[in-house]
Amino acid sequence: MKITLVAGARPNFMKVAPIIRALGRPSARVAGLTFELVHTGQHYDDRLSRIFFEQLALPQPHANLAAGSGSQAEQTARVMIEFEKYLLANPTGLVVVVGDVNSTLACAVVAKKLVTPVAHVEAGIRSFDLSMPEEINRMVTDAITDYFFTTSDVANQNLLAKGVDPGRIFFVGNTMIDTLLHALPQAQKPPVWQQANLQAQGYFVLTLHRPSNVDSVQTLHTWLQAIDGLGVPVVFPVHPRTRKAMDALQGQFANIVVCEPLSYLEFIFLLKHARAAVTDSGGVQEETTVLGVPCITLRTTTERPETVTMGTNVLVGTDPDRFRHVMQHLEPVATANIPPLWDGHAAERIVDVLIRLSTSGQ
Ligand code: UD1
Repeated sequence: MKITLVAGARPNFMKVAPIIRALGRPSARVAGLTFELVHTGQHYDDRLSRIFFEQLALPQPHANLAAGSGSQAEQTARVMIEFEKYLLANPTGLVVVVGDVNSTLACAVVAKKLVTPVAHVEAGIRSFDLSMPEEINRMVTDAITDYFFTTSDVANQNLLAKGVDPGRIFFVGNTMIDTLLHALPQAQKPPVWQQANLQAQGYFVLTLHRPSNVDSVQTLHTWLQAIDGLGVPVVFPVHPRTRKAMDALQGQFANIVVCEPLSYLEFIFLLKHARAAVTDSGGVQEETTVLGVPCITLRTTTERPETVTMGTNVLVGTDPDRFRHVMQHLEPVATANIPPLWDGHAAERIVDVLIRLSTSGQ
C-alpha cells in the first residue's frame, strides 16, 4: 500500500517525522508500505519550514504545492485545488493528515471526495471554541476521517460521543513527543543564550501567535506589559504573524528579548532550561508537560486538557491580573507526570496499525 503523508505548517513537520522514521523499519518494508510526502507550502519561510526538514532529517517532499498565505478561505482553497491535482496524478491507498492546520482540513476533504481513505493523526482533540480556525479544522477533518489516531483518552471519548466506531479509533500516543524525546540529546544552545546572558531557570520563554492574542496591537501590548513587569528576562521568538503587531511595539519593554523564530533544536533547548513557558501554542503545552517545565497558557480553553490535569499547564485566560498572580506564585515542578503513551513510540504504533490495515485489506 502506498501512503500519502501531508505536512503544511511548522507543527506538522514534528508530527510526520517519526512516522516517516517508523515507515523505514523492516516490518513496514516487508509489508510493502511505501510513502510519498506532500508539503502544501502553507509555511514557506526557511525558519518555519526548511530548517525543520534539515533538523528532523525529513526527506525532500515528493511535491510542494506552494499554497502560501492568505485569508482562511484563500489558503484552504489553494491547498485544495493543488492537492486535488496532485492526488489525481498520484493515486494512493491512504492519505494521512496530522494536527489541525488549514492544510489538514483541505487535504482530508480533497482525499475523501476522491474516494481515498483518510487517517488523522491527533484526532479527537477539542477545545469546543469555534472561534479558533483549528477547532473547525479538527471537527471537519474528524467528520470524514476513516482511521483515528489519538493522543489521549479524552480524545477517544470525544470521538465516541460523536458516534465514531470504536474499531476505527487507535489510541497510539503523541507523535510530537516522539520527536521531542528523539531530538532532546541534540538540543542546541541558541545564539540568544549568550547575547542575553541567560542562565538555566533564570528566564521565561514566550510564544504567541493565536489571532486572538496577536492580531490586535492593544491585546499584545497588554500581555507584553504584564510579562515584562515580572522583572525576569523573557525570550520571545516572534512568529511572522506576530511580527506586524510587534513592529509597532518594539523597544518598549526592558526585559523582553525579541528574536527571530528559532529552529526546533534551539527551541527545545530554550524550553528545557526555562523557569517557565508562557504560550498560546498547543504543542508547547505538550512539550512542557513532558519536560516538567511550568507552562502558563494565555487562552481560556485547551484541546489538550491532560496537560492541565496531569501535566504542568495552567490556563490563565485573558485576565492579565490572574496571569501576574500565577506568575508570582510559580513553583518548580517536583515530578513530571507524563500522560499515557507519550513515551516516544507513538509513530511505531501508528505504523503497526497501518501494516495491519494494509494486510487485512480494510
Ligand atoms: C498556522 C496554523 C496554526 C499553527 C501555526 C504554527 C492554521 C489555521 N493555523 O498558523 O494552527 O499553530 O501555523 O506556526 O492553519 N507567514 C510567513 N511565512 C510563512 C508562513 C506564514 O510570513 O512561512 C505569515 C503569513 O503571511 C501570515 C501569517 O504568517 O500573515 C500567518 O500564517 P498562516 O499560515 O496563515 O497561519 P499561522 O498563524 O502560521
